[in-house]
This record gives sequence, structure tokens and C-alpha cells, in this order.
Amino acid sequence: MDENLLKAVLTKYFGEKTGNVTRETSKDELKCIYDERSGTYDQEILAVGAAFHKPLAKCLHNALKEVLKDKPKDQIKIMDAGAGTGLIGVELKKLDYTNLCALDISPGMLNEAKKKNVYNELICAPLSGQQIPQIKSGQFDALISGGALHEGRVSSSAFVEMIRMVRADGLLCFNIWEGQLGDYQEMMRQLEKDGKWICLSRETLPLFTAVDMPKECLGFVYKVLKN
Ligand SMILES: C[S@@+](CC[C@H](N)C(=O)[O-])C[C@H]1O[C@@H](n2cnc3c(N)ncnc32)[C@H](O)[C@@H]1O
Repeated sequence: MDENLLKAVLTKYFGEKTGNVTRETSKDELKCIYDERSGTYDQEILAVGAAFHKPLAKCLHNALKEVLKDKPKDQIKIMDAGAGTGLIGVELKKLDYTNLCALDISPGMLNEAKKKNVYNELICAPLSGQQIPQIKSGQFDALISGGALHEGRVSSSAFVEMIRMVRADGLLCFNIWEGQLGDYQEMMRQLEKDGKWICLSRETLPLFTAVDMPKECLGFVYKVLKN
């Protein structure tokens, strides 16, 4: 599926404002777009057969079982970056991870996430290449991000801040639709060359089941080497 077609289906299912998000969209506009969608997001995403929340949570879980096998699950501190209404948090809770923090640019989305009762901390801030002052370096054992690494939302420069939040030997797990890999892949390779992280796995995961939506995405797990 090419990018124009993707824009058309995003518009069809999520509205014109979401379909028209580009890298020129300001953080304020982004916040308003997701605030407006926050009350209907879960129904919208169900209607297009979003299928990535459970497999992505499982992907992180499988890697944590290997890398942090001695740490009790309720002590593994996980950042859900671009958490939205908390659908990934719900899946992590089913896997017995209870030390969860949600970060999102949209207070409306975070308000919905709060209602799910799975996060013990909520942070409203834009994720970008800039440091988020209320998050300490190495504060989390792991970070997960589903559906947020997409043009005009969380840009590739945010990988630096995502790594900073996670302690050395901690994990980052995220998905990217293949048609969007461009900038992200370049940055992922550069950070690996710089010795910041190492790729542990890259696998094809389900994305949406609606006939005209992209069916698959790539799920990545990286281990932080230094932050
Ligand atoms: C497609 S939704 C995904 C939500 C959730 N992770 C899920 O899997 O259902 C993208 C989310 O990322 C948030 N977001 C987009 N750009 C962001 C940014 N730069 N910083 C923080 N949150 C952002 C949006 O507000 C929205 O809640």
C-alpha cells in the first residue's frame, strides 16, 4: 500500500484531520486531533480490526523473559510511549505487568487510559528529540510504543529520548508499518552504529484486519547498551 492510499484509508476510518497529519503538523494540532478522537478511539480501532496490541505486548514479554528473567514482573517498570487510551497497558496487565506508566501528548487520550486502571503514572508530554524533564535517565526497565511511530506523530529523533528513559540492558519494543520505515530505519541503524542499542528481534506482526487497511507491521525489540 502506498502512502497516498494509506492517507485515504486513514481519512475514511479516522477522519480528515488524522488523514492529513504530516511532519508539518504542529504538536498543538496533534494534541487537538487526538483529544477530539479520544472518546471514540476504542470503537474506531475496533471497527478497523486493530490486531497489534496483544502481539506487541507479547513480543516485549518474550524478550523480558530472556533479558530480565530474575526480576519479578510487578517490579519491571514499563513506559508506554504514545499510550493513547491504554490498549497496550491492558494487554500488559493481562501478562501480569503492573508497574506501568503512560505517556501521551493528548490529555484526552490519557484521561481514557486512566479509566482502564492499568497505569500507576500518567505523563502528558510530547515525545520528540527533546528531553522530557519529569523523566529521569534510565528510569524504566523497558519501553513499549504501539502505533505512534508514524509520520507527523512520534518522529525518528524521539528514539534518542526513548533510549534515555530506559536503563542500560533494558528493552525497547515498538511497531512500525513497513511503508513508514524510511527515516526510522536510518536512525535505528545510526544508533546501533553509535553503540546506543542493539537489535534483538525484528518480526512481522498483525496490524489491522479491515480489508483496505495495512495488514502487517514490523515489531522490533532493542536492548539499550548505553544511554
Ligand atoms: C495511533 S494512537 C496509538 C495509541 C496506542 N498506543 C494504541 O496502540 O492504541 C497514537 C497515539 O500517539 C500519541 N502521540 C502522537 N504523537 C505523539 C508525540 N509526539 N508525543 C506523544 N504522544 C504522541 C497520540 O496522542 C495517540 O494517542
